Amino acid sequence: MIIQKPKGTKDLLPEDTYKLQYIEKKISRLFENYGFREIRVPVFEHTELFNRGVGETTDVVQKEMYTFDDKGGRSITLRPEGTAGTVRAYLENGMASRPSPVKLWYNMAMYRYENVQKGRLREFHQIGLELIGSDSYLADVETILIAKRIFDSLNIKNIKINLNSIGCPKCRGEYQKALKEFIGKNINDYCDDCKNRFEKNPMRILDCKQEKCKKFNVGAPMMLDYLCDECKEHFENVKRSLKEQNVDFAIDSGIVRGLDYYTKTVFEFIDEESGLTVLGGGRYDGLVQELGGSPTPAIGFATGVERLMEMVEASLGDKIEERKPDLYIVSSGEKETKVAVEIAEGLRDKDIFVERDLLERSFNSQMKYSDKIGAKKLIVIGENELESGTVKIKDMKTGKTQDSKLDVNEIYSKIK
Ligand code: HAM
Repeated sequence: MIIQKPKGTKDLLPEDTYKLQYIEKKISRLFENYGFREIRVPVFEHTELFNRGVGETTDVVQKEMYTFDDKGGRSITLRPEGTAGTVRAYLENGMASRPSPVKLWYNMAMYRYENVQKGRLREFHQIGLELIGSDSYLADVETILIAKRIFDSLNIKNIKINLNSIGCPKCRGEYQKALKEFIGKNINDYCDDCKNRFEKNPMRILDCKQEKCKKFNVGAPMMLDYLCDECKEHFENVKRSLKEQNVDFAIDSGIVRGLDYYTKTVFEFIDEESGLTVLGGGRYDGLVQELGGSPTPAIGFATGVERLMEMVEASLGDKIEERKPDLYIVSSGEKETKVAVEIAEGLRDKDIFVERDLLERSFNSQMKYSDKIGAKKLIVIGENELESGTVKIKDMKTGKTQDSKLDVNEIYSKIK
């Protein structure tokens, strides 16, 4: 019996990887144009990093982490997201002393034990960025402009940008009081997780996925109505500047985000077709300090690559072309094949994509194979060609042929 992949994981086959590579190249180039540099951090970290960073009362930490004890008895967790690890690396590697802001991006696999459904996997990938060291609204705007540009550059149109502010620890006290008053009326009927969160972190109750809790949450007070002057001014500046840059967005006061580190501006990009959030992010001014650094504001986002791929499939699918062989060399016989190998290697030295037979098949089978793999041109090296020192370069689309010396440089000049 063939062993199957674990639930919630995906194989990405060559028919799709070239599209992924296209997306990755576009986005990394785009990030570079804004001065972001790539970081790679471990797949697993000490569990404590996520407990402290993401927050003990979040679904991610309480229900979704792949946590295990390693053979040395340490509690280890596969990263469920990239921000905590990136900030850990920023601190551990003394990046706080680099010119500010520090701008980092990543493309990494993430692991969450979720209920698997469309667009929700247990191993998925995020491309994201973190801008560490600026408390200015300018950083929020730049971050959202970059996020928007990802979709523009991939010709994705049906995307909605939702924005909210969830304030700072200063304005949260007042809000949490009002929220607890509201939720308190029905708290005995909420799920056990929510009952637990009521004292520890009542805002998390707004993120509960249970239907009955969602119902009770309708009409709950919104953080947006409780912002302190500083948060209010910050949010006003973000909105004004986004409008000046012609960014279409809507305010969604219901966005709370699933991770505890957020402060002030939060945003989600929604695929209007599927309703799924394809990109999420926001400001996290307290996280660097929470993880042992000095108070340092920061903001970032991550896009779910699998969800993005679905959208790209619809917008660009057949316009992204896979590279096809520039030339197929048919040969048979030891002497002829020796020359075929030399010509192929010589052309590859010049960055040409060449295929040739590796199965010692007949001329006919080689021809058929070259057709199946979509080779653009073909040459045959047989006894006659060796003798005359010439070949015919056949264009597989038009069927036309061109004469050439059996010589790497001349073949190159005719097919490049
Ligand atoms: P997040 O909203 O948890 O944020 O995840 C970001 C994106 O990852 C989501 O919008 C979604 O597209 C994708 N995603 C999340 N979970 C899954 C899943 N189970 N299957 C497939 N795709 C998924 C974060 O992770 C933050 N670290 C983003 C951030 C960076 N905030 C500041 N900096």
